Amino acid sequence: MNFTKLKDCIAGSELQPLLPFISDEFLDSIRHGDHYRWRRLVSDLPALQASALEIGETVRIGKRTDGDPEQLANLESLLRELIPWRKGPFELFGVFIDSEWQSQLKWARLAHRIAPLQGRRVLDVGSGNGYSSFRMFGSGASLVIGLEPHIPYYGQFCAIKHYAPDAPVHVLPLTMEQMPESLECFDTVFSMGVLYHRRSPLDHLLQLFGQLVPGGQLVMETIYVDGGSGYSLVPRERYARMNNVWFIPSVPSLVQWLEKVGFVNIEVVDESLTTSVEQRQTTWMPYDSLIDALSGESQEQTIEGYPAPRRVVVICDKPGS
Ligand SMILES: C[S@@+](CC[C@H](N)C(=O)[O-])C[C@H]1O[C@@H](n2cnc3c(N)ncnc32)[C@H](O)[C@@H]1O
Repeated sequence: MNFTKLKDCIAGSELQPLLPFISDEFLDSIRHGDHYRWRRLVSDLPALQASALEIGETVRIGKRTDGDPEQLANLESLLRELIPWRKGPFELFGVFIDSEWQSQLKWARLAHRIAPLQGRRVLDVGSGNGYSSFRMFGSGASLVIGLEPHIPYYGQFCAIKHYAPDAPVHVLPLTMEQMPESLECFDTVFSMGVLYHRRSPLDHLLQLFGQLVPGGQLVMETIYVDGGSGYSLVPRERYARMNNVWFIPSVPSLVQWLEKVGFVNIEVVDESLTTSVEQRQTTWMPYDSLIDALSGESQEQTIEGYPAPRRVVVICDKPGS
């Protein structure tokens, strides 16, 4: 990986404490079975110069005419080795990556409700392969830093970034907990699809709070369940086949948690049922998907008997200084 641009951009800034995580030595220290495979795949990517970067519902980099048929076939076959592609869609040099999630739908639900991202420094916690991080840049953010500890998704980001080296979008293979505490230097922090994976959701909210500048905005997106203030679901084992789900709050509980941590101007801006229009099997994610995690005709319950996933977007501010 070429870290020069990111290093130059943060050297001497409040983001300087991130420097130890931006190096080949740090990447070498990651122990994950897929780590060496994706690094080989990324280094084998064909040398193509992208003549365009278009960030819309599909994040498009390069055009089919930028390469010859052999290069494009090689590109597609390497990208397919990075399956499963959960978030997208992306199109690289005309190769359309039809991901499991139609992530543009989530972005559309919140983009017009959040504080404008123009010129803002953004942290995207749990960024996956960086689809939303690119959308944040496309909405005017001056710098986007994603955090993604799952190495195969980080590898997908590296493959995409390989062809958009100048975009100020970077993902670090880190958990939120590994971030230096309380940097207080991001104007907007996104936590989308992460809260219910945390054993201690209030600690997660405190960590998000600590990364924001005074007056900065948190965009929180999570699965929720119906219920009053104080209620949350703690699945006995799995929830919708996921074995790493701890607390799914009701919306009033989530609001209460955010208040408790110190956020103000808390506003619920969207609630929606996740459907198999938005999350489905494709040739780029050929494994089980939402439909296999729901039961019965009505699809109103998970196969474990819990309410089917509904998602909420809440925005709120850290008080100004
Ligand atoms: C459900 S996905 C959501 C991806 C993207 N934010 C979105 O909304 O489409 C959750 C992501 O958060 C990552 N994640 C889980 N725990 C995390 C943590 N403690 N810190 C940062 N990311 C985490 C997972 O690896 C996964 O890629």
